[in-house]
Order: sequence, then C-alpha cells, then structure tokens
Amino acid sequence: MAQPILEVRDLSKNFGAVTAASNINVAFAPGETVGIIGANGAGKTTFVNMITGYLPPTRGEIRYRSQDITRKRPRDIARLGICRSFQVSQVFVSLSVLENLLTAVAIASSPGLGMLRPLRRPELLERAEVILERYDIAAYRDQLASDLSQGARKLLDIAMAVVSGPKVLLLDEPTSGISSGEKTALMDVVMDALKQDEVTILFIEHDMEIVERYVDRVLAFYQGEIICDAPPAQALRDPQVLQYVIGTEIRAAAGGHA
Ligand SMILES: Nc1ncnc2c1ncn2[C@@H]1O[C@H](COP(=O)(O)OP(=O)(O)O)[C@@H](O)[C@H]1O
Ligand SMILES: [Mg+2]
Repeated sequence: MAQPILEVRDLSKNFGAVTAASNINVAFAPGETVGIIGANGAGKTTFVNMITGYLPPTRGEIRYRSQDITRKRPRDIARLGICRSFQVSQVFVSLSVLENLLTAVAIASSPGLGMLRPLRRPELLERAEVILERYDIAAYRDQLASDLSQGARKLLDIAMAVVSGPKVLLLDEPTSGISSGEKTALMDVVMDALKQDEVTILFIEHDMEIVERYVDRVLAFYQGEIICDAPPAQALRDPQVLQYVIGTEIRAAAGGHA
C-alpha cells in the first residue's frame, strides 16, 4: 500500500475480563471505502471509539498521516481530520435542520467549547448551505428534525459529522433503522458527497447487500479480532465470515439472538 492515511498497530482493549479488541493491526489507504462487519459484541464500535479518541486503548498505537494520535481527545482528533457518526443519532430533535447544521458548523469552527459565536454568521451559513445541498436535505431546511423521516434524519446526522471536511470518516451503522428500500438512496447520497473529496470511509454495516454494493474492502470482526480482511466478493464467501458473521446476521434477522 502507498503511504496509509490511518494505521493501527497491536491495538487492544480490555473491559475487565472482556477482550473487546485483541492485537489489531490494519492500515487504510487514502480514499478507500471499508465495510466493518461482525455480530453484536464483536468489537466494531470499540474499534471506532479507539480511533476517534472516545476510548483509550489498553495497548497499541494509532497513527494518522504518520502522526501518533493514540490517546488524543476526540475533539483534537476531529480537528486533525478524523470524524464520525454514532450508532444513535446525535441530531437535536427540537431544532430545525438548518439550525442543527449551523450548530455543528459553529462547534467545528470554534476554538473551544464555551466560545460559540453567533450561529447565523455569513460564513457559517454559507458552509451549512453547501452541506444541505450536498446531502440532499435542503428541502427540509426549516423543518424540525423531529419531523424528518428516518432516512432524512440519518442524512442530517451524517451531514453534521462532516461539516469540518474530514479526511477520514467513520460511520457506526449508518443504515440501521432505515427500511431496506431507503438504504441505497441514503448511501448513494452519502457516498457521492464523500467521493467528491476523496474521503477515506469506514462504516459498520449489518446489511451484506449494502456492504457488497459500496465497499472496496471488508473487515470482519469476531471476538475483538479481524478474522477476514479482503474485497467483498472474497470476504462474503469466506467460511469463517459465513459462520461467525453472516450466519449470525441471518439468525438475528429471523428473530433469533445474535
Ligand atoms: N464501555 C464498556 N464497558 C464494558 N464493556 C464494554 C464497553 N463497551 C463495549 N463493551 C464490551 O466489549 C465487547 C465489544 O463491544 P462493541 O465494540 O460495542 O461491539 P459491537 O459494536 O461489535 O457490537 C462486548 O462484549 C461489549 O459488551
Ligand atoms: Mg456497535
């Protein structure tokens, strides 16, 4: 691989007796789109939380553009260009779509919390307008976030994560809670918007059709380890992936336990 944009070395995380990440070594090329799969509890969110500074690793190192970012604060990591969305939407339901975006832009551009400047400054508004268009939510700009469809609310949530123009974006289950008919429409908008800036995208996903359609590379997690790292055509046929990931998803979708 040419110079990776992001690299983790021997990354481990224990919660008491639970090993949520075990000696993970992986590197990502600029502009890659990577799908992270794995059953519930496999360690996917923990991996994302460590890269974005929300959880300190027990051991190991995270490097971004050759800089050691291990143990930096989430805010400082975001400023360097690694942003994320959460499994649970971070949208403010009592604000309009535009107000949500303006808030996100203001936070991203303020030197510190507690130093928020007036939200409707022209340059903030301009940035918010660009994002509204790019994420296909301009039509809802004055609607309350609580009145949006699930799909539009997810778009707003992701749009709020990218206001600072990240180089790496991590999305924790961007299509969860979305009807299968709406998923590709949502992902088309997100992927088109991000490809324009050659963003490296890592997203956690349970729907294998979405994985197959949008990613260059699959990382399959099982018990805190990466059990497969391969292009989707290969990864989704891998015997271990079939057993420990896809089999579990099928049982979960059928109403069984993951
Ligand atoms: N803050 C935490 N405290 C204790 N255990 C945790 C915490 N976060 C995650 N875990 C445990 O770590 C393992 C991996 O969790 P997680 O990364 O959330 O999995 P996934 O996102 O793949 O469903 C699970 O066993 C989970 O219970
Ligand atoms: Mg998770």
